[in-house]
Amino acid sequence: MDADIEKVLIDEEVILRRLDVMAERILEELGNEEILVVGILTGALVFMADLLRRLPVPLQIETLSVASYHGGTESSGVVKFLDAKLPEVEGRNILLCDDILDTGRTLKAVRTKLMEMGAARVKTAVLLSKDKDRAEDVEADYYAFGMGDEFVVGYGLDYQGRYRNLPYVGVLKEEVYSR
Ligand code: IMP
Ligand code: MG
Repeated sequence: MDADIEKVLIDEEVILRRLDVMAERILEELGNEEILVVGILTGALVFMADLLRRLPVPLQIETLSVASYHGGTESSGVVKFLDAKLPEVEGRNILLCDDILDTGRTLKAVRTKLMEMGAARVKTAVLLSKDKDRAEDVEADYYAFGMGDEFVVGYGLDYQGRYRNLPYVGVLKEEVYSR
């Protein structure tokens, strides 16, 4: 697996140190209320596991699955909810977690859905935020790292379902895409 990596962008130690800081900020702002953490599968799993163990407050965890269908052009992306039953969110203070903020479609669609379902408040946390023009007007309330518009894998992020279990964030070798 490591052999497919061109370069490590953010190593594990650096990620964990940033999560310490993120957790502190979240505790300052949300620490006095009971939080419902909602994670977007599958990419948010690794990030959530490390972040939530840094939040020593009462909280619950729910997950949901979405698929983003990006058509021929950027603007034709549609986010589809895949769960038969979505989490109960009415009146809850939510911390919505995803691996990465890219076009913004996923975070925007899920955030909107949770608000429609009666959530009291939705704050968003992502590991990575790509610095680019987004298709949707959305930014993360908390993000660990900003990055360029580059495709990355590891620490939850996949390419064709693989590399999520790499402990760092890295860039794949060009040859992997042509296999
Ligand atoms: P958005 O809806 O375009 O903001 O993209 C969000 C989703 O696209 C994320 O939850 C990821 O699953 C996926 N994604 C975006 N950029 C990357 C990347 O660089 N590597 C792996 N997955 C990505
Ligand atoms: Mg993904």
